[in-house]
Amino acid sequence: MPSHGRAEARIPLNVDWSEPATRPVRADWNAYATAYDLLSEHNPAYQALLQEFEDFLGTIEPPRVIYDIGGGTGNYTEIAARVFPDAEIRFVEPHTGMIGAAKAKLAAYDNVSYAPLALEDVEATGTADLVISIHSLYAMPNQAQRLGDLRRLLRPGGLLYLVDLGRPMDVGDWRRYLFSHLRKEHGLAGALRVFWQGREIAKQNSAILKAQKQGVYWTHSEAELATAVTGAGFDVVRQKAVYRGYSDLLLCRARPAEQSRPRPAPEGKIMNEQVTEALKRARYRVLTADKDLEDLYRLRYKCYRAERTIAPNEQEMMSDAFDQTPNCVHVAVEMDGEMLAAMRLHLVSRLSLESPTLDVFPELMDEVKRGRTILDPTRFVTDPAARKQRVPLHFLALRIPFLAAMHYDVDLALAPVRAEHTAFYRRYLGYQTTLEPRSYPGLRKPIHLLTANFREQRDAVLARTPVFGPMDDIPQSSIDFPALTDAYIASKPGRSEAA
Ligand SMILES: C[S@@+](CC[C@H](N)C(=O)[O-])C[C@H]1O[C@@H](n2cnc3c(N)ncnc32)[C@H](O)[C@@H]1O
Repeated sequence: MPSHGRAEARIPLNVDWSEPATRPVRADWNAYATAYDLLSEHNPAYQALLQEFEDFLGTIEPPRVIYDIGGGTGNYTEIAARVFPDAEIRFVEPHTGMIGAAKAKLAAYDNVSYAPLALEDVEATGTADLVISIHSLYAMPNQAQRLGDLRRLLRPGGLLYLVDLGRPMDVGDWRRYLFSHLRKEHGLAGALRVFWQGREIAKQNSAILKAQKQGVYWTHSEAELATAVTGAGFDVVRQKAVYRGYSDLLLCRARPAEQSRPRPAPEGKIMNEQVTEALKRARYRVLTADKDLEDLYRLRYKCYRAERTIAPNEQEMMSDAFDQTPNCVHVAVEMDGEMLAAMRLHLVSRLSLESPTLDVFPELMDEVKRGRTILDPTRFVTDPAARKQRVPLHFLALRIPFLAAMHYDVDLALAPVRAEHTAFYRRYLGYQTTLEPRSYPGLRKPIHLLTANFREQRDAVLARTPVFGPMDDIPQSSIDFPALTDAYIASKPGRSEAA
């Protein structure tokens, strides 16, 4: 068994001790502008995106008003201005280096106007027929609000053509890809020359990766982006992974304002059906035996290593002192006898205050002092190998804290999560952001703290997504939570609100 020395207890969530924390990093878009079009010319994946955009324009009714948000050096605006000479195109870009390059490129077009602004400073008009945002959303602050801005620019029924970098920018992978292409096209000397001329690109791509790791730039899965877009008032017409799997392309239609609130169907209906089917094959197990816990720690290790959020270790297990506190419950999801997902729960009451998230956000202790109880779910893992099986493992695992909150009758449920997961918790589980994200020495990404007053949210969540709750006709979908008699006590009814 790995050591559980008390000294480990202060280790915050998702820590990679091998990587020291640094000042927040962002790309320098002005510096990037000097070499940006080298990328455009020599990167086949970028060329493929431009071609796909031009092909798309050939399929739509001519728009009257088009916005290009984060237009960079104007490559997409140039296509739109050429294909639709009668359209009015508004180029929105906050960085002067980029704007200068775009103006030089677009000088021949008189249907382009320039707004030297960030999206968040653009006044919404509701007149656009088409808004495009290519590889700019991830670099903006607060994506949920920015998607709302994009929605407000559009008339109801207008189109959003969105491409966004979602996965971590593997700089080495891109370097190899571009070099091998350049070498084929221009020989070794030519490839080296272009690399030298474009050295600023490598520098800025490294900055992008750093900003992604720090959570300054948004990383997301395909599903997370679709959820965020839908939540902002769009219907997704089509979606696919592009740019060598690093980015997502979504064509979306702006829902009329009265329909813009998140809707349960059909997306919710399909999801409920999928989870119900998966629950018939799944089983929840509370883990206490050493052998089971070792399997759990191995699964965790595999998951965190796959995301490169921890350094390797010889035992290939991941655990800490919080795994053995008396108020800790480990629950795993098994399918066909295999452990595929797991979650750790800490039940905090006056009987036991131990909780990894309370260590990181000690302000929460005020809640406990007021007599409230807290559920702290952490170490949420799903087997990377199982993610491709199209089983909604995330939902199966998220039933664990939901059912635990019901079983232990907690007042406050926590969700200490990375930026890219916050939209999901808000949308499906009624969580709200409570405290500013925190970073720690060695932490790769800051942790956002979301909380939900569980009793207030429970009914709304169940009305929308019934599969989170008890499913009487699927007996194995329940969880046999331990009593925790000496370690946890629910607050007295009414006391927490009155305190
Ligand atoms: C990777 S470039 C993409 C440029 C162009 N869309 C393309 O694909 O060639 C990202 C662009 O987003 C812009 N950007 C960054 N933050 C922004 C914001 N808050 N609002 C609008 N644009 C922003 C940057 O200045 C930069 O030009």
